[in-house]
Amino acid sequence: MSTSEPTRVACPGSFDPVTNGHLDIIGRASRLYDEVIVAVLINESKHGLFSHTERMEMLAEVTKTLENVRIASFQGLLVDFCRAENVRVVVRGLRAVTDFDYELKMAQMNYGLSGLETLFMPTNPLYSFVSSSLIKDVAKWGGDVSAHVPEVVSARLTERISELHPRSAGG
Ligand code: PNS
Repeated sequence: MSTSEPTRVACPGSFDPVTNGHLDIIGRASRLYDEVIVAVLINESKHGLFSHTERMEMLAEVTKTLENVRIASFQGLLVDFCRAENVRVVVRGLRAVTDFDYELKMAQMNYGLSGLETLFMPTNPLYSFVSSSLIKDVAKWGGDVSAHVPEVVSARLTERISELHPRSAGG
């Protein structure tokens, strides 16, 4: 194997917000590859619970001890971002068979568009049921999600939910 070029991969996603499942994948990728770019999608047509900046801030905070991890944003096609960043491989976590259909289509499309490879990493079973949307739904109704997201995210969720639904958060 050539040792001349560092291996740089991307972990793309919406991260609204980052969960322990995402963090597990990012951490494992950072131990396998020289550089990991966490690529946060800017999606102007979809209004998330957190702004793009807030998502980036939370990601930066929870990955600050991982020296080879960088947070970046992208708009448009993932393949264009990867080409510009000289990334040839994306890493995506697979939680369960239900993820597979969607992920396979994206991977095949991306490969067809530019030869961008996708490597699937099985999610740690501890997080196999954790998704950003489920976390938001549980938090919205006052449920405790602190076991499933980093502390900074849990605090921001409580804050955001109490701004949006003062009574459901007990505020
Ligand atoms: O965390 P998500 O929402 O499952 O991430 C999906 C993401 C951001 C990886 C995907 O929607 C994406 O790459 N969007 C950018 C637009 C694009 O390239 N679409 C074609 C992919 S086949």
